[in-house]
Amino acid sequence: KDLSAITILDGEVSEKLRVLDNGFETTACMDSAITFIDGKRGQVMYRGIPIQDVFRDNDFEDVLHLLLWSRLPTKEEKLAVRAAVFAASTPPQSVINTIKAFPPTAETYPMIIAGISAFIAIDADAANTRHQHSPLFHGNLEVADAAILRTIGYYSAVVGLVHCHKRGLKFHTPEPNRSLIGNLLIMMGKFDPKTGTGPDPTIEKCLSKLWICYADHEMTNSTAALLHAASTLTDPISCVMAGLICGYGPLHGGAIDLAYEALEKIGHPRYVPVFIEMIKAKKARLFGYGHRIYKTRDPRLALIEDLIAQHQDLVSKDPLLEIALTIDKVANEDPYFVSRNLKANADLLGCFLYSALGFERDIIVPVICLSRVIGGLAHWRETLSQPIKLWRPLQVYSGPKVAPEAKSPTEG
Ligand code: ACO
Repeated sequence: KDLSAITILDGEVSEKLRVLDNGFETTACMDSAITFIDGKRGQVMYRGIPIQDVFRDNDFEDVLHLLLWSRLPTKEEKLAVRAAVFAASTPPQSVINTIKAFPPTAETYPMIIAGISAFIAIDADAANTRHQHSPLFHGNLEVADAAILRTIGYYSAVVGLVHCHKRGLKFHTPEPNRSLIGNLLIMMGKFDPKTGTGPDPTIEKCLSKLWICYADHEMTNSTAALLHAASTLTDPISCVMAGLICGYGPLHGGAIDLAYEALEKIGHPRYVPVFIEMIKAKKARLFGYGHRIYKTRDPRLALIEDLIAQHQDLVSKDPLLEIALTIDKVANEDPYFVSRNLKANADLLGCFLYSALGFERDIIVPVICLSRVIGGLAHWRETLSQPIKLWRPLQVYSGPKVAPEAKSPTEG
């Protein structure tokens, strides 16, 4: 419809039409049967099931199975996933050393990427994949599934290790038969406060629901990055690494961190109107607000609000929640936001639960990304049943076509 946003030029090289689509606002790069979003009506479906129903009836382990393998698991299948992820979650010494080589005050994200790299460096299958990808994965989904579950285990171990190293905590190795979330909590040292053993059940139960909201969101920037890497036929762990690098960016997953930081700076609900004026004057951006696809409220927010209500005793202690709710109220009535269809996205409130459950700001985004790694890997798996095609976008060249003549020294 909006052709003003598109420039169509005759391609000189390929003799095909070349469409300049900044930010890929109108370009689809895959067909996919995993997640459906209707941005106008504010709907999300996983494998055809509305996210509200998935959220009500399932835990995260069910959703992991649903996204990866298109159906809910049996009890035995859940246990098999636990066993495979557990087996990959105990970090070898080289991974531990890599993370310990950073000063504990170092930034979280580069440490995580380094930890993943250290895992890739000793994963024989990853190296084999790059040499003979097709025989390994195309048509051999068993090998692919094993790689998927290893990748999930690796990432959770790295998050646990980085969390402990930054705080000088002892790293606890995962336990067999625990859920993915349960073992993440053990590795992070978040034990049941009553018994001192096993994962904290309040956190495990809450994350098992909260992660359903974040598990997949169709062709997000990070999923597209992951698939871009996948189109080169590199190994799936490297693909996840590409996705994570984008996932941590401030306009994407990293927005949750900046949203929280902005609330801290605002300090009190009475300063919200001044802050909103700064946003409208384009002196700042409101993180946790706006979305490329949603032109209405992000439907995941209602689910997060449900969880916040269930944990009211913990969350209400956070003075920043009132500031966030005031922002939402003011923005919802302000013509700047209304005329641009700018509504709150899942990142405006997502941080409150993490914070109330005792996760410090620097580790919240990496933990959220673990839930999204599942969705990303579901997309990776989906590529295996599609024709191999290298992603290679075009550009529209706007520089000189003839090399400028060298100036004589007298020309100045
Ligand atoms: N705060 C203030 N103004 C905004 C915001 C915002 N968060 N988002 C968009 N706008 C304004 C733009 O300035 C622009 O105004 P203009 O028409 O006067 O130029 C208009 O709304 C359209 O904005 P675009 O940047 O073209 O919208 P786009 O679809 O490209 O942006 C994005 C989507 C990047 C998410 C944007 O809304 C944003 O930066 N939000 C803040 C970051 C954030 O919360 N990201 C998380 C997204 S959800 C997720 O990834 C988990």
